[in-house]
Amino acid sequence: MASLNAIAKKLVASGKGILAADESEGTIAKRFALIGLPVTLETRRDYREMLFRSTEAMTDYISGVILTEETLEQKAKDGTPFRELFNATDVIPGIKVDRGALPMPGSKDEKITEGLDGLRQRLAHYAKLGAGFAKWRGVIAITSYAPSRNGIRANAHALARYAMYCQEAGIVPVVEPEVLADGEPGDHSIQRCEDVTGETLEAVFKELRLAGVDLSGMLLKPNMVTPGLRSRDRVSTEEVAQRTVETLRRFVPAAVPGIAFLSGGQSDEEATAHLSAMNQLGGLPWALTFSYGRALQTSALVTWNGEDQNVKAAQKAFTHRAKMNALAALGQYKP
Ligand code: 13P
Repeated sequence: MASLNAIAKKLVASGKGILAADESEGTIAKRFALIGLPVTLETRRDYREMLFRSTEAMTDYISGVILTEETLEQKAKDGTPFRELFNATDVIPGIKVDRGALPMPGSKDEKITEGLDGLRQRLAHYAKLGAGFAKWRGVIAITSYAPSRNGIRANAHALARYAMYCQEAGIVPVVEPEVLADGEPGDHSIQRCEDVTGETLEAVFKELRLAGVDLSGMLLKPNMVTPGLRSRDRVSTEEVAQRTVETLRRFVPAAVPGIAFLSGGQSDEEATAHLSAMNQLGGLPWALTFSYGRALQTSALVTWNGEDQNVKAAQKAFTHRAKMNALAALGQYKP
């Protein structure tokens, strides 16, 4: 079995990144609403099959795909297990193992992620199915009440417990503490995002250390430091890049092999430009790449529109975004 460090490094290999295709049933329903498509087992499968059969993108630009439990065990329309498609393109399958974020008791505006019960058994099962990595997302909202120190601490603690279970099962934990840009009211400044992101990362690495997580066998999936999506602040690509890298430098140990960002509601082009600007800064102790959901998928979804005849065009759109983000991971994207 490959070591945790070897899997983590392969996921952030030069010029490659991760496709997040692990939308829950509720979230994929929101995405399909964009094109007015009903959500069924078949439409979810057909949509994801379109992505996974984008051979150029999957071979050249994508190192790993985050899946739901449904997709990890699913077959393509012709009966080929999706896992065979990943083997053929040398893509590592990953699995979202959290059970969603629910309102946190005793707290206003905050959520705590559930899913630790039974996780050890589930991970053993996913490892047998070939999952090389996993994802757990903790959500930190910015409102006039949130986040509280307790909300940050509780989410960081859950992330650390999850990460330990993963490493025990030989699975690389992708640790995702997301400071929301697209939450309500979403009008916070970039400074507020920087402060909360720093506080969150500090708490997460403190808990990871306490739990004994091997930092060389994990990846971090953070937000970038940006204003809230409904903020009046207008900031340059360079400012986002500088503030994000500065914050990461202060709180993320160099032992972590890679950082793969979420896109968090940024436009496709913004997410790509920000990543490229960060890599252009150079001299970073970790690989910086993408683990995008929306910023990789939205143009393909809209082009596909639920119709077989559009599959090729949709694959082209997905491949284009994957290629642009692969260039950004090398600091070579030009808008
Ligand atoms: P977005 O890139 O759409 O934010 O999704 C990434 C993800 O996996 C969130 O958990």
